[in-house]
Amino acid sequence: MRVRKAVFPVGGFGTRFHPITRAIPKEMLGIIDKPLIHYAFEEALAGGIEQFIFVTRQGKNSIEDYFDGMLAEFETKNGAPECSFCYVRQREPRGLGHAVLCARHLVNDEPFAVVCADDFIFHSKSCIGEMIKNYNGANMAAVMTVPHEDVYKYGILDIEKEQGSIVVAKSVDEKPSVEEAKSDLAIVGRYILSPEIFGVLEKLKPGVKGEIQLTDALLEMIPRVGLHGFKFEGIRFDCGFKSGLLAAILHMANKDKKLSAVLKKFYKENMSD
Ligand code: G1P
Repeated sequence: MRVRKAVFPVGGFGTRFHPITRAIPKEMLGIIDKPLIHYAFEEALAGGIEQFIFVTRQGKNSIEDYFDGMLAEFETKNGAPECSFCYVRQREPRGLGHAVLCARHLVNDEPFAVVCADDFIFHSKSCIGEMIKNYNGANMAAVMTVPHEDVYKYGILDIEKEQGSIVVAKSVDEKPSVEEAKSDLAIVGRYILSPEIFGVLEKLKPGVKGEIQLTDALLEMIPRVGLHGFKFEGIRFDCGFKSGLLAAILHMANKDKKLSAVLKKFYKENMSD
């Protein structure tokens, strides 16, 4: 079945970016002139997604306003876009799994994508689009190798076998300790999921951090549905952290002729020794 819908969980508090995120959603933080959520939208659109479902929360209305304006501009230039937008509220932030569950009535009974805007992936090909091409019915998560000391920040796969860019997982563990992690292969915020996951999520008990963890649902579904890691191409910036957002901004500035000249001048004047 074709993957037409993508869920964007945008209900998190963004406390690492306080004080700015007291007034601005984390997903509206900018990489130069476009907010993170815009890049996530572009990646999904390029990947063939037609329905964009935002799981939002109090204080996040600027995301809706942003897309109204952006779509109006898009329509003037290109005609009506072949996509639709809808928003559903997550009343309390109870974890990624809970955010996904909030979109159940909009996704219904078809496989769907999940795109977390704070994981910014820079590549000429759409990461989520490549995942859709490789989706065969098993749940799929984008994965990358991380330094072993960082495994506690991620969902970590226990690998059964690898076939090209696909890693078949025999297990997955949310934020394991450095001692307990079964590999260094970490999930980043892109998923293609079977709708069966909703029935699993609604019965899940809170896991790590007292939250409903998507990883726990993926683990439970392995015997029936399977779990594939997708080793994506491109550079990923963890824009949930200041260091990652700064690196993404510098990377994009360096790609721009005028801005890269500004960067060079800055480095020369301030960082020569
Ligand atoms: C979430 C997931 C985790 C994944 C990570 C990727 O964690 O629960 O499995 O590895 O995103 O960014 P969070 O960063 O929301 O704590």
